[in-house]
Amino acid sequence: MTNKRAYIESYGCQMNFSDSEIVASILADQGYTLVEKAEDADLVLLNTCSVREKAEQTVLNRIDGLNHLKGRNPGLRVGVLGCMAERMREDLLEKKKLVDLVVGPDAYRTLPLLLDEVEGGQKAVNVLLSREETYAEIEPVRLGSNGVTAFVTIMRGCDNMCAFCVVPFTRGRERSRDPESIVAECRQLVAQGYREVTLLGQNVDSYRWNLDADHNPRDAARPTADFADLLEMVARACPTLRIRYSTSHPKDMTDKVLRVMAGHHNICKYIHLPVQSGSSSVLQRMNRGYDRAWYLDRIAAIRRHIPDCAISTDIISGFCGETEAEHRETLSLMEEVRYDMAYMFKYSERPRTLAARKFPDDVADEVKGRRLQEVIDLQMKHAAERNGQHVGQVQEVLIEGVSKRSDRHMYGRNSQNAVVIVDRQYAGTELMPGDLVRTRITSGTSGSLQGEVVERVREGVEEW
Ligand code: 5AD
Ligand code: SF4
Repeated sequence: MTNKRAYIESYGCQMNFSDSEIVASILADQGYTLVEKAEDADLVLLNTCSVREKAEQTVLNRIDGLNHLKGRNPGLRVGVLGCMAERMREDLLEKKKLVDLVVGPDAYRTLPLLLDEVEGGQKAVNVLLSREETYAEIEPVRLGSNGVTAFVTIMRGCDNMCAFCVVPFTRGRERSRDPESIVAECRQLVAQGYREVTLLGQNVDSYRWNLDADHNPRDAARPTADFADLLEMVARACPTLRIRYSTSHPKDMTDKVLRVMAGHHNICKYIHLPVQSGSSSVLQRMNRGYDRAWYLDRIAAIRRHIPDCAISTDIISGFCGETEAEHRETLSLMEEVRYDMAYMFKYSERPRTLAARKFPDDVADEVKGRRLQEVIDLQMKHAAERNGQHVGQVQEVLIEGVSKRSDRHMYGRNSQNAVVIVDRQYAGTELMPGDLVRTRITSGTSGSLQGEVVERVREGVEEW
């Protein structure tokens, strides 16, 4: 055992933040104490993202920034985890002398061995990908938690091969996690006082678990569980827990999932459905597996099954060969859908991807930037408009914490995932993280809503 102190810093997607909680659990088993600042640590681990070049550059700069700590603490060890570890491998050790340890997303179980090597003064690398690893039974240590909301990983990897995306190379083949272990983790979160989970996967709609192969005797009529089944299992097993999920894929999103969402009050009415482009020809070059009409049909299905559902998206501006007309198709699709929220990016070429091998990255950077700005401006307008539609409604808001802008206010989220700001005081008492309150929405901007609490939903009552 050791009394060493470790610090983990996470970059990128929610999946990485969730993986860091697995890593924290493995380190805690090794006797590490987790600390809040790199300055206080003997081991600094950066869990990294490769999705865009800028994300990688941020981490490379951060590694340089850690140099001064080494001067103060010669025993300091630095490790790179996650997608950059997988993509850059031994090169990372060459490029950054400070780095002692490189561990890919499927190799965290070997951390104890690797850390032994590093302790002995060697450098250690494990970037093996796996077809099976789901870390199913490792109980995550919740990091930076508000005690209210938590992530639960339901699958890993991605088999889709979108032309722009490095994820299939860094996170490997798609594999689903045993539903029993997922439900057990959610139940445990409820027992610990958590009120909301987000089920995570790169493409949750291709979740599949073969119950037969597991010799599950209980339901012979349904030998496989798909994502809709899983969602329903969790919603039933944990009726007091709010459930969210991310990310859906337009080519795979089924009406069955929408029916399950519509049928359970505790499943939040919010879908993140990345479109990437509104142009069928661009979508084809991107190898997304759907066209504009298919995507709009999925949007129509959401509105049909769940009229009050919020929808968000991801958009890439300036993908290879994108013409002005194709860009305008993205704007026109946005006009049709009117997204509640969007993550918007300039295309960034990634080594080894289909696009890097097949197409020149031929949209000039200024053009990418200008198009992205047009997308952002339009989205701001739509977000303000969509948020305005909440005004006057009474909505259930789960309080997450004290507002960052003012300690006289709390923030929470409604079912649609919009941030709602309310007074900290309600009926002579202070609201607390984890409180569920019915709130009248009084105003809204593109970023958040303001509301007045009208009623506290009683603790322990299965209100959903
Ligand atoms: N360039 C720009 N954006 C990208 N994304 C993925 N790969 C790239 C890339 N090479 C975006 C996509 C995806 C989100 C997670 O990141 O929109 O949905
Ligand atoms: Fe990347 Fe496409 Fe898989 Fe998403 S679905 S992780 S964009 S390859």
